[in-house]
Amino acid sequence: MSTDLHSIDGVEAEALEGLQQAGDDAALEQWRIGWLGSKGRLKELMAGMKTCAPEERPAFGQRMNALKKSLEAAFKARQESGAATTGPPLDVTEPGLPVGTGRRHILARTVDGVIDVFSRMGFTVAQGPEVEDEWHNFIALNMPEAHPAREPSDNFFLDGGGMLRTQTSTVQIRVMETTPPPIRVISPGRVYRPDTHDATHYSMFHQVEGLWVDRGVTLVDLKATLFHFARTFFGPEADIRMRPSFFPFTEPSAEVDMRMPVRGKWQWVEIGGCGMVDPNVFKAVGYDPEVWTGFAFGLGIERIAMRKYGIPDIRWLFENDARFLRQF
Ligand code: DAH
Repeated sequence: MSTDLHSIDGVEAEALEGLQQAGDDAALEQWRIGWLGSKGRLKELMAGMKTCAPEERPAFGQRMNALKKSLEAAFKARQESGAATTGPPLDVTEPGLPVGTGRRHILARTVDGVIDVFSRMGFTVAQGPEVEDEWHNFIALNMPEAHPAREPSDNFFLDGGGMLRTQTSTVQIRVMETTPPPIRVISPGRVYRPDTHDATHYSMFHQVEGLWVDRGVTLVDLKATLFHFARTFFGPEADIRMRPSFFPFTEPSAEVDMRMPVRGKWQWVEIGGCGMVDPNVFKAVGYDPEVWTGFAFGLGIERIAMRKYGIPDIRWLFENDARFLRQF
């Protein structure tokens, strides 16, 4: 084998020319194997070292190293700039990847539906904070210090004062504190209770509160409002039922059941509480209970959604598994 250093220049030119001509990724890889691979031309030339006269070996070795570096650098540069020299690297006619359409969570859409119906009855939407104080969550709602719902084990009290609200009834107080009557609001939102998670309990869930205050409001208005909601939301066979109960902030109070389609079959479902606003609540916010009357209600959003869509486990609503949520 010739050890003529000038012949190596020729080899280099040949290699670089071959690299230029590699038109696509496959050709580029062929070139790499052919020149830089473990059985490539460079290795073969290197073996020529053995046939060199001892005094020529250093110069030959240096030249070979320079050649190797040069080919490697050229290959790398070529790779980075994109292999193809023939034809565009981008096929602009290729169909794009499908873009997944997002959708609102099933609970958000249930809330939207509830708002929609009550808006048409003249209710506006009010919001309140999820981090509350005991005045709005209990005291102004006529729940005295000794009320069992105020136990630490039933509430998320925060270090340094405050708590996570356990009910959206807090917003009744906030609205009345800042707005003179008459009032007609609903307030959807999250509430928090330290319940152990199972199929029907979760430490966070959603309610929608309703409050109507005016002169001469009666139980008939309450019942008619809930009935109208049931019919509009669930359909013409829907109905409501009120069972006498107790809530500190209403007098009289009732549990509300609605007859709704549960996977195609009409069934009675407990969905919340309601009543006529207790005079003590009006006093707490500075309304004169001799002048103003009102009703309030609080409905469970998960209850409505789970029954309506046949969802057996509340936890599925909050795990964010798109395979589950996508069904609705
Ligand atoms: N705040 C009650 C609860 O979380 C629900 C409720 C009952 C709200 C009666 C009301 C009401 O406004 O009048 O259990």
